[in-house]
Formats: sequence, structure tokens, C-alpha cells
Amino acid sequence: MTESWATSGGDLHLELSAGRGLKAGLADALREAARSGRLAPGTRLPSSRTLAADLRIARNTVAEAYAELVAEGWLTARQGSGTRVAERATPLRPAGGARVRRPARRGPAYSLLPGSPDLGGFPRTAWLAAARRALTAAPNEAFGYAADLRGRIELREALAGYLARARGVYADPERIVLCAGFVHGLRVLCAVLRARRVREVAVEAYSLDIHRDLVARAGLRTRPLGVDGEGARTGDLGAGPGAVLLTPAHQFPTGAALTPARRAAAVDWARRTGGLVLEDDYDGEFRYDRQPVGALQGLDPDRVVYLGTASKSLAPGLRMGWMVVPPGLLDEVTAAMGGLGGTPGVLDQLTLAEFLTSGAYDRHVRGMRLRYRRRRDAMVAAVSGRVAVSGIAAGLHAVLDLPPGTERTALQSAAWQDLALQGLSAFRHPDADLPPRDALVVGYGTPPDSAWAPTLAALSAVLP
Ligand SMILES: Cc1ncc(COP(=O)(O)O)c(C=O)c1O
Repeated sequence: MTESWATSGGDLHLELSAGRGLKAGLADALREAARSGRLAPGTRLPSSRTLAADLRIARNTVAEAYAELVAEGWLTARQGSGTRVAERATPLRPAGGARVRRPARRGPAYSLLPGSPDLGGFPRTAWLAAARRALTAAPNEAFGYAADLRGRIELREALAGYLARARGVYADPERIVLCAGFVHGLRVLCAVLRARRVREVAVEAYSLDIHRDLVARAGLRTRPLGVDGEGARTGDLGAGPGAVLLTPAHQFPTGAALTPARRAAAVDWARRTGGLVLEDDYDGEFRYDRQPVGALQGLDPDRVVYLGTASKSLAPGLRMGWMVVPPGLLDEVTAAMGGLGGTPGVLDQLTLAEFLTSGAYDRHVRGMRLRYRRRRDAMVAAVSGRVAVSGIAAGLHAVLDLPPGTERTALQSAAWQDLALQGLSAFRHPDADLPPRDALVVGYGTPPDSAWAPTLAALSAVLP
């Protein structure tokens, strides 16, 4: 029979000093744990019955040691709240050596940095409900070491349905590989490219430096590919690169959608040279005034690797991403997954699967789309007549063009307004051959609703 004391209460590690008798040894050990700060003030100790059972000593011995320390002021004993380390049992030295002070890090009061959704919009209630259902239905084997490096089949199936329906992806669950966000997927793909002896990857001349750095750290050169109002100039892809990294639905950060001719040019290049297109579909769910731009992958699933992420649609903290991999690459990608850390935690995978199949994901995206669209309209109205705005048909950010030579001044002015803001120059590849362009990249999705009005006012104060 399982005795309740054997399973109740928390564990307490104590080093009983030898040769002092059980009660004195226990009292010494407790005193030392409180004195040194290892047991923080307020820590609840196990009941005398539980501790006696754990230490295999008589319950009275523990009760007497507790009573002694209560009398000395090291512990407190209160009906209903058990025995605790006394609040005034000030440690001689903080646990773990020198006290670690949290740096007083207060960021700017307002932020329009691109790259984040409104974290306050995370669908806590619906996610919790999906998690409950997913956990209830999960088979025991789900809690074991992953049998499949591609991730849980439940989520791969749910994603295949969603991506085919909503993003025009040719998605077979067998070819979906789950990863910890886009950056993890990119790291895995770079390892595969390197193993295939690829030396160079073309990247958009305006792009995220962290992604370019990641490619470079994998031992691959990055070659900038020009970007204009029609997206990346894919017709300029030469014979050098073995792959090209593109953001076709919404160029990051300029916001252009890759035109049909440029899409065709990317696929033609891949077929002609044997190269691979890596499609970063980071915010494809958010489009406002135009027909959704489907995934480029649909044009040639054998030459395009599609990469999606929950970082914009749900939250970056989930670290949840997915790749749809051409058949000829699947074994290499799966093998690289084994070497480069695995998929996200199984509970999040199963919860997202449930979130997708129950329709909660669509509901959430539609709700957020409306919220972001309102913000975008408010921003466009606030700046109209002062600066040109572009890249607003989709996504969570826009580009505000400034008079030549004024980007740096605008960023300084933003700092005085306590507003975190980024200029377009921050995204320029160091070797890019692009005409000068002074502009701000405004992430209007970033602020919480409560800060939106003052954030917009701060932006307005920055503009010429
Ligand atoms: C261009 C681009 N790609 C991908 C991502 C998403 O990356 P991850 O899934 O690693 O959070 C972001 C996020 O800011 C992004 O801006």
C-alpha cells in the first residue's frame, strides 16, 4: 500500500553530521542550511513525518529538532502553513556565492522595432484549452524520446492541411520537418548545403543580419542579390550560389511582394543550375488589401524548401517552425536534425496540432489581422503627407522613406523620444550595390495595445 507520507511534500537535501547523535546532527544540518542561505527565508520544510520517513529516523527526532530551531528563531511553525525557514534568518552569505544583481535594464519606453507580434495578443485561453485537449488525448509514447526526427505526425498532418489550404504549399506530412523556429531550420539547411559542398548562398541585399551571420557561421559566403519594388532581382542570380534565401510573400524589410516574373525567374534559375530556393514565409498569414500571395514552393516543390514559423502568427517564444522539404533532400535534412538539436517540445507540438485542427489558429490569425490592419491604417493616416509609406499591403511592418541623408538624425530623435526604432541601413548587406535610401522600418505590430497611441505620437514627433 502506498503511504501518503511517502509521496507528499517536497524533497529536502540535508547532510547530517556524523557522531553528534541523530537529533543534534539534524538540527545542525537545518541550522547550517538556513544560516548559509541555501534554504531561503520562507521555504516550507517537509512535515516531520515525511522527513522522518525520508531519513529513516523516528518522527519524534525530527519533531524535536524542528522545535529546537523554532525556539532559536531559525524556523517558524504555524498552524496550517507548516514549518518554514524564518524570514529573519538572514543568510550569512547569499546562496550560490555572490548575490547576482539583475542589471537595472530598462529599455526604451516605446518600441517600433520590426520582428515581433503584439505579445499581448497571444491567445492564452484558446491555447490553454487546446493544450488541455492535446494532453488528454496524447498517447503515453508521446512522452518518450522522439521516435521520428521530423517531429510528431499529428502536427505534421495538421500543418500539411493548413499550409496547402492557406498558403498554397504542396505539403505532404512525410516531407514536413518541425524545427525550433526559422533560424533553427536555416541552420539545419546550411549544414546540409555545406555537406553538399555548396560555398555560396545568395541573400537579399536588404535582409536580417542575424540570418546572414548564421549562414556565414555555417561556412558559407553570402552574396547580396539586389532588391527593388518588385522584390529580389532573381533574374540576376548567376552560376555562383548553390542556394538563394528569399522572402517572396513580403520582402523583409522593404515589404515588396515578389512579382510573378521574378518568381518564375527564381524557379528557372534553380532548375537550370541545380540550386535550391529557401523560401522564408515568416509573415505570410498577414495580408490586408490584396489577394494572398501564395507560397513560391507551389511552383516547384522539388527545388524550393518552404520555411514557416509561428513567431509572427503566435509568439516567437514558442520557438516553433516547420520546413517542407523536397524529396531529394529529406534524408539529409532529417540526419542534420539529429546532429543540430531536435524539434520543439512534444506538448507544444501536440497543442499546435490541436490548435490548427480545431480552427483556433484561423480564428486567432483573423482576429490579429484585423488588429494589425487598424494599426497600420492609423499609422498611415498619422504620417500621410509627411513621408512616403511602402510595404503596407501585408505583414507587421512598413517602410517610411525619409529625405536623403536624414536617417541618422531621425534615429537620434527617436532615442530622445524614448522610442526604439530601426533605420533601413541596418538591414543592408555590407557588399550590397544599392542606391542610397534613407528610411525607417516601422514594426507596428510590436507595441502592446495599451502603448499604441503614445508610440504613434512618438513616431510622429520623429518625422520631418
Ligand atoms: C525575415 C524573417 N524571417 C524569419 C523570422 C522568424 O524567425 P524565427 O522563426 O526564428 O523566430 C523573422 C522574425 O523576425 C523575420 O523577420
